[in-house]
Amino acid sequence: MSKQILVTGGTGYIGSHTVVELQNEGFDVVVVDDLSNSSIEVLDAIEKITGKRPAFEKFNLTDQEKTNAFFEKYRRIEAIVHFAAYKAVGESVEKPLEYYHNNLVSLMNLLGSMRKHKIPYMVFSSSCTVYGQPEKLPVTEDTPRKPAESPYGNTKAVSEDIMRDFARATEGINCIALRYFNPIGAHPSALIGELPVGVPNNLVPFITQTAAGLRDELKIFGDDYNTPDGTAIRDYINVVDLAKAHVVAINRLLNNKQKASYEFFNVGTGEGYSVMQLVKAFIKATGVELKYSVVGRRAGDIEKYGPIPRMRIMNWAGRLRKHSKKH
Ligand code: WQD
Repeated sequence: MSKQILVTGGTGYIGSHTVVELQNEGFDVVVVDDLSNSSIEVLDAIEKITGKRPAFEKFNLTDQEKTNAFFEKYRRIEAIVHFAAYKAVGESVEKPLEYYHNNLVSLMNLLGSMRKHKIPYMVFSSSCTVYGQPEKLPVTEDTPRKPAESPYGNTKAVSEDIMRDFARATEGINCIALRYFNPIGAHPSALIGELPVGVPNNLVPFITQTAAGLRDELKIFGDDYNTPDGTAIRDYINVVDLAKAHVVAINRLLNNKQKASYEFFNVGTGEGYSVMQLVKAFIKATGVELKYSVVGRRAGDIEKYGPIPRMRIMNWAGRLRKHSKKH
């Protein structure tokens, strides 16, 4: 019988792609989601992609009673992949209490249930935001964490500390935190992708919704950064690659390959691309004339994650030289 894995937030963007990859790996997946930032139709899409509809329970994990009842019902769970959290950087600045309560109480309810029901493993959705604005690039696991630029980022840092201390103090508990850079893209079937509820906070869904005519124009937040074209740089990682990284982490735990009760890993490409590069690449790839304008910087944004490979700097420099000769 296949091992049963709980995926919290499994109808969300990264969660749904991870459910698909876990099912492809042969796991029996159960999804818990409160549907506050996703829709139940995602389960139909997952079933279309893999032929398997995950079991589903709708509730918020801050509800301890419902969380306990869930684990009384699902007695075969061997590991948890925990995505369920509020994740909008800007919104967290306006609603810090909601972010701390939702993201931290959910995690603590899950960890308490792991201890009570002897579930040994958790893979946790963390974030590169725990590094703040790094002094040196590329960011490695040795890069020191810095105070997060937002309450959202701080919930990830505090969650990591809770898991670390709990795993060290509790026999048989092993956790892995995956620190994502910027997940983008969609499953090749296009049946699942990034479709946040309401106005997108993130760059790529805003680009795609502008291209689809749902948004008037893309606003590029700042072109006065210390980068070759002035726009901010991020390490964008394909969401399917990121989902597969969770399968690797789950197998590492189930096969007892972990080196410590708490581990963390960066998940990115190690390369940086600017906002303007992404916009230009989208226009080139789709042929859609995307409407955009440059406005002021967004509060809480960092300048750059991910170094620009040397080759691209030389190309950039070449183009800048050519451009400056023209004027
Ligand atoms: C990327 C760049 C914006 C929207 C994300 C996740 C966060 C964490 C880190 C996982 C920035 C610019 C954006 C727009 C723009 N990942 N931008 N116009 O802020 O790096 O954070 O990755 O935990 O959860 O949110 O991603 O896509 O919002 O911004 O110019 O309309 O695009 O200023 O430079 P960010 P983002």
